[in-house]
Amino acid sequence: EKGTYPHYMLKEMDEQPAVVRKIIQAYSNNDEDLTIDDNILEAINQADRLYIIAAGTSYHAGLIGKQYFEKIAGIPVEVHISSEFGYNMPLLSEKPLFIFISQSGETADSRQVLVKVKEEMGYPALTVTNVPGSTLSRESDYTLLLHAGPEIAVASTKAYVAQVAVLSIAAYVAGKAKGKDLDFDLKQELAIAANGIQTMVDSKEELEQIAEDYLKIARNAFFIGRNLDFYVSSEGALKLKEISYIQAEGFAGGELKHGTIALIEEGTPVFALATQEQVSLNIRGNVKEVVARGANACIISMEGIEEEGDRFVIPKVHQLLTPLVSVVPLQLISYYAALHRRCDVDKPRNLAKSVTVE
Ligand code: M6R
Repeated sequence: EKGTYPHYMLKEMDEQPAVVRKIIQAYSNNDEDLTIDDNILEAINQADRLYIIAAGTSYHAGLIGKQYFEKIAGIPVEVHISSEFGYNMPLLSEKPLFIFISQSGETADSRQVLVKVKEEMGYPALTVTNVPGSTLSRESDYTLLLHAGPEIAVASTKAYVAQVAVLSIAAYVAGKAKGKDLDFDLKQELAIAANGIQTMVDSKEELEQIAEDYLKIARNAFFIGRNLDFYVSSEGALKLKEISYIQAEGFAGGELKHGTIALIEEGTPVFALATQEQVSLNIRGNVKEVVARGANACIISMEGIEEEGDRFVIPKVHQLLTPLVSVVPLQLISYYAALHRRCDVDKPRNLAKSVTVE
């Protein structure tokens, strides 16, 4: 029930800090260490390559998951859009593990891949889903639950945050089991991120103002970022287009000059994420390039690497966990942009919550 909330989406965004805390608990053992089921851990660590299969927002979470498994656990990963996989199957490694990421567990495009790789080819499959007993969960060998509670709004918010958090835990536990020397305590860092998300959902007024200042009359908008910020930019753009119908695109900052910059005109809104310290200078360089061509740029940076003139600053969190926090202002900006346009926020036109057709 949405209770006093005007929209499920708003309620679900507000639930995000609690979701991360719930996940920390659900994935902690009696010694208070992060853990995942032994069989799943074995399946991950026996694989020579992980193939993440997902659609939409879940695909964007998968891109972040790839970085986690590669950087934290040292396991090579490929991420594929479910609908493309059927006709453009990559050459598979000797011991693949397929990981399906799906909030609903019912996405037909993903199920089609599952049937092919598991039933027809006999490879093991793990589903990361919010819905116990869903089709993908039942038909896979293993399931990791998101513990996000029912997500009703068509636009996925808390499930994305849950996916990123659960993938970070799986990668961390796998890395530890492989004897990797990890110089951070993920449990502690996730708790810090949960507090950071809380600060974000408490910044609604400021974010509503940003939506007003940048998107009131916009016909299109661009989101740019580098490294992890690039994936979050793609997710921010998807959120905005899906609920406000403003044409939006997420780009890697470095790709701008290879084409997209031609679209920048006087007043074009450009949201630039600048939370990645190693590429902070580069993304700020991109912002200068678009501003010189008239863009109305909104820099969203992070404490510790912020600069004067940044429009919004997220609290400092571990480098790898920035997506958990930086996505929230983008969700809220999209929400308010949609609200200002009197769009049906929870049920945008032409869309279904679970896409059960191919
Ligand atoms: O249930 P799933 O995670 O498999 O759904 C995948 C996409 O349909 C979904 O993420 C979609 O992109 C959302 N509406 C985005 O907000």
